[in-house]
Amino acid sequence: MNAVLEQREAHVSNLTAGEPGSPVLELRDLHVSYGRTAALHGVNLRVMPGEVVALIGANGAGKSTTLRAISGLLKPTRGEIVFQGRSIGGLAADRVVAQGIAQSPEERHVWPAMTVDENLSMGAYLCKGKAEVQRRMGLVYERFPRLKERHRQLAGTLSGGEQQMLAIGRALMSEPRLLLLDEPSLGLSPRMAEEVFEFVREINAHGVTVMLVEQNVHNALSVATRAYVYETGRVVAEREASRLLEDPELLSAYLGG
Ligand SMILES: Nc1ncnc2c1ncn2[C@@H]1O[C@H](COP(=O)(O)OP(=O)(O)OP(=O)(O)O)[C@@H](O)[C@H]1O
Ligand SMILES: [Mg+2]
Repeated sequence: MNAVLEQREAHVSNLTAGEPGSPVLELRDLHVSYGRTAALHGVNLRVMPGEVVALIGANGAGKSTTLRAISGLLKPTRGEIVFQGRSIGGLAADRVVAQGIAQSPEERHVWPAMTVDENLSMGAYLCKGKAEVQRRMGLVYERFPRLKERHRQLAGTLSGGEQQMLAIGRALMSEPRLLLLDEPSLGLSPRMAEEVFEFVREINAHGVTVMLVEQNVHNALSVATRAYVYETGRVVAEREASRLLEDPELLSAYLGG
């Protein structure tokens, strides 16, 4: 086995270590508001190790708000966010990253005036050793050869799909146990979107648990193991992804057409 693969195997066994049978993430009665306007009204959900969980629902239902609360960008007004048995609700975003959660946000947000290399390095800002940053970068480039070819290019000059890969790659630089992806296929061609979903499968196969928000429900359900359906700030259903895929009527009943 070559060195990179060995490192990856070691990394995966770290990721999958922990108590079997207990959720990686649990939201208990989560309430979140923007100023005085409530956006989440008591969300309960669980994510088990190794799952890809999709959050689906209409525009404005609260999917992004959920991810922002988990990643520490928004403080819950009530309820709990429990990650690997520890309550993390209200922790600052950098502390959440240090716990093992990384988010690739809805708006992509790569730093346009920085190179691909520099953007990736920023994703490992909590990691002190230069050699370790290089090792992680090597793994990301192995997974995204297209980024490797462009490693000195300014991020702002990348195509939409390449920027999306960079945003995901940067999130992976913190070697998260849980990866939060908000609309990773937004604005991409169907072919690029399929590529991104293939990456999600691959990342998951290497031991990373994923929470995925997607407008493209069919793509989301084809990657996900389970899905939670949102409606106006609440979870109204939870189903196996395959079950929803096989039952378009059920799906359209939840999603309103
Ligand atoms: N910065 C904000 N300030 C005030 N209200 C907000 C803000 N961001 C979101 N909201 C409101 O919170 C609610 C949930 O929004 P959220 O972005 O979580 O929805 P979503 O499910 O991600 O929708 P979409 O599929 O359109 O991305 C909406 O009513 C929205 O208008
Ligand atoms: Mg959203």
